[in-house]
Amino acid sequence: HLLKSRIITIDGPAGSGKSTVSRELARRLGWSFLDTGAMYRALAFAAAEAGQDLADEKDVAKLAGRQNFEFMPKSEGIKVFLDGRDISSEIRRPEVTASVSRIASSPLLRSLMVEMQREFAKKAGDVVTEGRDQGSVVFPDADVKFYLDAAAEIRAKRRAAELEAAGQNADFQEVMKAIEQRDRADKSREVAPLVCPKEAVIIDTGNISIKQVTEKMLSELKEKI
Ligand code: DC
Repeated sequence: HLLKSRIITIDGPAGSGKSTVSRELARRLGWSFLDTGAMYRALAFAAAEAGQDLADEKDVAKLAGRQNFEFMPKSEGIKVFLDGRDISSEIRRPEVTASVSRIASSPLLRSLMVEMQREFAKKAGDVVTEGRDQGSVVFPDADVKFYLDAAAEIRAKRRAAELEAAGQNADFQEVMKAIEQRDRADKSREVAPLVCPKEAVIIDTGNISIKQVTEKMLSELKEKI
């Protein structure tokens, strides 16, 4: 059709509430949803399972080309399939979370991911996409850009609660350390570090509920789209 499809980007640090909010926003708008963190996680998991050295970006890239990844948004979260096998809960394990920055810091692997994300957007119609570089690098011409943030302690509390709800043990100090480490890795890497795009609408999600964040976004969108 003649209408160009629309793109909303949502970026921010780990635990800022991006995933839940993006999913909810996409549901309310009836748009497609892309969780780019799940893509990085799926590749980290597949490479580790195949016994690949994550530091060898060329080998990991070859493996990415051989395997088939599918991403299916569901109301409870995104479902990820590796060659037809459901790996949705595996990719959330702490080992994967800890190792994924090896993938995220590789220029070669990031360029593969960016290509896949743009490909997805072309086919998916109107899209809400979330990650670290969606507004800054992948979709610089997005219709509306959001940046979600909250104090590290609040984000760590949320992560700990999520892990507990998923039946994994969560020591608060450990989770806090991991969040701070991820912030450093995300913000200091050379390729596509986490930044707040200058035209982004910034929302502090620290003291408001997911529902309130979504409402705030919807009212911004009413003005902009
Ligand atoms: O949002 P998340 O925790 O699922 O992201 C997993 C990792 O992937 C995180 O350490 C940063 C990286 N990532 C990235 O570098 N760029 C993106 N667009 C999305 C995620």
